[in-house]
Amino acid sequence: MDSTRHRRPTADAAGAGASDQGAADDDAERFWEQHYRTPRAWDARVNPLLAETATPLRPGAALDLGCGAGGDAIWLARRGWHVTAVDISTTAVERVRERARDLGVADGVVTAQHDLGRSFPAGRFDLVSAQYFHTPLPLHRNRVLGTAARALRPGGLLLVVDHGSTAPWSWNQDPDIHFPTPAETAAELDLDPAHWSVLRADMPRRRATGPAGETATVIDNVLLVRFIGG
Ligand SMILES: C[S@@+](CC[C@H](N)C(=O)[O-])C[C@H]1O[C@@H](n2cnc3c(N)ncnc32)[C@H](O)[C@@H]1O
Repeated sequence: MDSTRHRRPTADAAGAGASDQGAADDDAERFWEQHYRTPRAWDARVNPLLAETATPLRPGAALDLGCGAGGDAIWLARRGWHVTAVDISTTAVERVRERARDLGVADGVVTAQHDLGRSFPAGRFDLVSAQYFHTPLPLHRNRVLGTAARALRPGGLLLVVDHGSTAPWSWNQDPDIHFPTPAETAAELDLDPAHWSVLRADMPRRRATGPAGETATVIDNVLLVRFIGG
């Protein structure tokens, strides 16, 4: 799914107070529930940068943050990964669970509803993926990604892929949108180079296909970090 992005300031930027954050969390759950109850939200293809990154890896434990329609989680499970797929939307995680069962990979996918601003799944992972983990609602996204970096096993990878441009078919054509660049995300994470190394921080272009089969060149903002250990 290729349609949401930061519009209002994130809580990281806006510094929301505790009570504001509670109301915003409820709004976020409502917003994404509504999103996933509409048929157009169900594009369950694997994301290309996830496929590119994970294809050469030996399967292990993966965590998909904001799994949405579950294209990535199912793709990983089919390649032998044990995936924990989490999303704020109960509808999304239930459908991912059903789809995993229907496709015969239920053993490889554990789904859970989490508002990642409030809770984070237990466990240690060889791969944590955050694909287009954008929301128009306030979220301490960098805090979530920092927690994700600390949930890696030694040698594990954190892959953050953000939009770097607005696709013509995106519902949100707000010209003031700011997509976090890989450098900005890395700077916000402020990971100790003694324990984490940045393997990739770039903004590749690719040809993307929209929901009606239309194509356009889009930019992805890619940050790939390895947990060295320690
Ligand atoms: C732009 S969509 C990307 C979905 C999926 N990763 C993909 O690439 O198609 C952002 C996802 O983040 C989820 N999300 C937004 N805020 C969240 C939060 N606070 N906690 C957990 N998931 C959240 C949304 O429900 C949505 O599925």
